[in-house]
Amino acid sequence: MTGITIDGHTIEIVFSEAEIAARVAEIAHAVAGRDPERLLVVPVLKGSFIFAADLLRAMHGAGLSPEVDFMMLASYRAQTSSSGQVEVLRDIQTDVTERDVLLIDDILESGRTLAFAKDLLAARGARQVLTAVLLDKPGHRAAELDADFTGFECPDKFVVGYGMDMAHAFRELPFVGYVTNPK
Ligand code: IMP
Ligand code: MG
Repeated sequence: MTGITIDGHTIEIVFSEAEIAARVAEIAHAVAGRDPERLLVVPVLKGSFIFAADLLRAMHGAGLSPEVDFMMLASYRAQTSSSGQVEVLRDIQTDVTERDVLLIDDILESGRTLAFAKDLLAARGARQVLTAVLLDKPGHRAAELDADFTGFECPDKFVVGYGMDMAHAFRELPFVGYVTNPK
């Protein structure tokens, strides 16, 4: 494995920039293949912001012209594992009635965050709520949820980069990696 050292932390690359770009393009075409109507894309902030930005541009390349609005959720966790509560820190301002919605998140782990967001938008009358995640950690599911579109299955490690953080750091990395010596 290749890695880099930043501020004393060694980060091993798990998914490279090129691997991610290729997968993102495939996901965009898979979304287009579902022929969504009046599509609203909803990135779940903060961790999904780089994935969402790349996926949206790839969606343009795949012939889609969605609208975009943002939701910020906090799921309360003990250190690095998710616990039960999800709170809306910032809601979308768009009416989803009769629209197809694509929720985008960075990681699907317990599934609580996305299950919460999906139920919320479905209850508001969305025609269909699809979900796209960059990474799936299937070993920790607590809610009944599988993403409609998944980038990669993630090793059972705390990963950073490509939007994902450890204590607000490492979001800028263009790849997904894991910290071999966490803070
Ligand atoms: P869950 O599916 O509700 O457990 O929440 C998944 C969320 O937990 C993701 O959106 C991330 O914000 C966070 N998360 C889970 N695993 C990791 C990780 O390895 N690195 C960074 N964030 C993570
Ligand atoms: Mg998140």
